[in-house]
Amino acid sequence: MPNEDLAASPVVTWDEGDLPRSRLYDDVYFSRADGLAEARAVYLAGCDLPEAWRGRDRFSVAELGFGTGLNIAALLALWRQTRPPGGHLSIFSIEAHPLSAGEARRALSSWPELADIAALLTARWPGRARGFHRLDLPELHATLDVAIMDAFEALSAWGGPADAWFLDGFAPARNPGMWRAEVLNLVAARSAPGARVASYTVAGQVRRDLAAAGFSVERRPGFGAKRQRLEARLEARLGGDAPRLPPRPRIAIVGAGIAGASVARALRALGVEARVFATQDAGASGAPAALMTPRLDAGLGDAAGLFAQVFHRAGTLYEAIPGAVIARQAIQLETGPKDPARFAAIAASDLFEPGVMERRDAMETTKALGEAAAAGLLIGDALVIEPALVLSRWLNAAIEGGVAAISSDGGAWRLLDEAGEMLFEADIVFLCAGMASARLAPGLALAPVRGQASWAKGVDCPVSCLFGGYVIPSRTGVLFGATHDRGDEDAQERPADHARNLQTLAAVLPELAARLDGAPLQAHAAVRATTADYLPLAGAVPGAPGGLFVLSGLGSRGFALAPLLGEHLAALALGAPSPLPRALARLVDPSRFAERTRKRAEKRASPPRLWRNTP
Ligand SMILES: Cc1cc2nc3c(=O)[nH]c(=O)nc-3n(C[C@H](O)[C@H](O)[C@H](O)COP(=O)(O)OP(=O)(O)OC[C@H]3O[C@@H](n4cnc5c(N)ncnc54)[C@H](O)[C@@H]3O)c2cc1C
Ligand SMILES: C[S@@+](CC[C@H](N)C(=O)[O-])C[C@H]1O[C@@H](n2cnc3c(N)ncnc32)[C@H](O)[C@@H]1O
Repeated sequence: MPNEDLAASPVVTWDEGDLPRSRLYDDVYFSRADGLAEARAVYLAGCDLPEAWRGRDRFSVAELGFGTGLNIAALLALWRQTRPPGGHLSIFSIEAHPLSAGEARRALSSWPELADIAALLTARWPGRARGFHRLDLPELHATLDVAIMDAFEALSAWGGPADAWFLDGFAPARNPGMWRAEVLNLVAARSAPGARVASYTVAGQVRRDLAAAGFSVERRPGFGAKRQRLEARLEARLGGDAPRLPPRPRIAIVGAGIAGASVARALRALGVEARVFATQDAGASGAPAALMTPRLDAGLGDAAGLFAQVFHRAGTLYEAIPGAVIARQAIQLETGPKDPARFAAIAASDLFEPGVMERRDAMETTKALGEAAAAGLLIGDALVIEPALVLSRWLNAAIEGGVAAISSDGGAWRLLDEAGEMLFEADIVFLCAGMASARLAPGLALAPVRGQASWAKGVDCPVSCLFGGYVIPSRTGVLFGATHDRGDEDAQERPADHARNLQTLAAVLPELAARLDGAPLQAHAAVRATTADYLPLAGAVPGAPGGLFVLSGLGSRGFALAPLLGEHLAALALGAPSPLPRALARLVDPSRFAERTRKRAEKRASPPRLWRNTP
């Protein structure tokens, strides 16, 4: 446990050894008597656990106030002992003022019986970047999403639903923001029918606001010095709808590129296997090396938030695959007059962990690249990965043949071959077939952009570099490019495109281009699926009967986008909580184009009233 980590804390101070107290709210994180016993008596028993998850495939718990993670550690310990066979636990917790992993380790050290779970949690502890952070706990058949932001903002962003809630802000008098009626209304709105709520506080306002939101509220004998605690239950007629699925849904994924592989991995993490269908070609994901970086948006709005979140998540998942990472870090060079200000805004943004995005002057980039270069942005967590390794690890199943058509009579979906014979009948189908997704579900707004990257053996590049084009190390040399030809669906290698790639590289890094000139070049040529707003399609297929989902339109960033969007899609299909905030889910929702057209038509049909200043 690094001492400096604890000494400099802006949020926590320590009472009686290892009892944390908030510097901001001057209140303790849990009972002085015994925090673990309190967590069990107030939150686990208060939500009727483990009884409430008996017989359930999936169960979802949400918490206001993640703090030291003690309640969640106690929850996980109970889940480990009493998990229904095949069950998956989704946890969502909110924290505006995160503790460091070292501080949490110290606070949790009082309970040796939680030591192994505390070690898992603190080893994967969320960062400080504003947004949703996913922690994988496959050993415990659980996932934990921690929202680093204010409770109201987090609940507005989260899709839910929760079956149980731990309301654990500091005392309402000291921490009123956590207990506002607006927050408690959102607790109700993000609940499954019949959801349970537990809290240590029985403050009158909290009870009245929960009751007004639709909960029946009771006071029970409290823990330790507290006379009473609170239990509440949402009326069964309230709460969100879940998709109606059979107990063991039959699931098909069409496509075995990074989109299909990401969906397969995400389903498996939720305890569900899928059949995978694909034509022979590897598609756009078949490159020998791929760069994983976010798109950099200076505006730092929702699209920037989406790319920051997918980037962080993809990095975590790729780093967990032995041998998948070829290289780390990338430099994005300045290529236009707006870039210095854009890069400065990105480096200062709280969307990324501190130090992940850092400006570098021309001397520094020149040193890193080994030849004269412009100033730029160092992307510390960028990765170059080996796609084949990732795909084989995540698909982990025999790949069956291509799909010529899909059909549904409103019940199950049928996958058909060229002869019209049924390959498979499924309750849920994920279309992850790049451009072919639009042939299987006509109306999907996808457009092709042909691309060719060139690669050569035996030539080195010291660090990955982006400049409009890109150059990255591969296992055996370098890969650079790539061309962008809109409307072109030809995936054959073209010698002229090697020349174009060399020219683009020579304009920025002429010495490296000179070393590559004359070297035998090989091609990765493929078709990217893109959309009119350059954002992917991830969601239910608009206008189709239930159970049909698409993940496509990944453009030039499939290796950053697909892993988290695969989790979003798997959650949508199974009715589990999505790791993607609602505003970001709307950005990628395939129905957005039709929705925009409808809104424009409505506007035209009812022009604004003019108020004239005439008699
Ligand atoms: C030259 C080039 C370089 C690139 N470099 C990068 C990079 O460095 N980093 C990055 O993030 N992105 C990069 N991209 C973009 C990236 O490759 C794509 O975003 C990503 O591969 C798309 O993945 P996908 O799974 O959606 O589609 P694909 O990888 O194209 O996979 C489609 C799958 O669908 C299957 N399929 C097609 N038709 C059918 C059918 N009828 N039935 C069943 N299966 C079918 C195919 O066999 C394939 O398995 C690059 C793209 C190109 C062209
Ligand atoms: C009582 S502590 C939670 C203890 C925690 N459940 C545990 O097991 O350690 C309350 C937590 O709520 C957080 N908090 C307070 N106000 C908040 C707000 N408006 N939004 C989000 N988190 C808030 C605090 O930073 C603190 O970590």
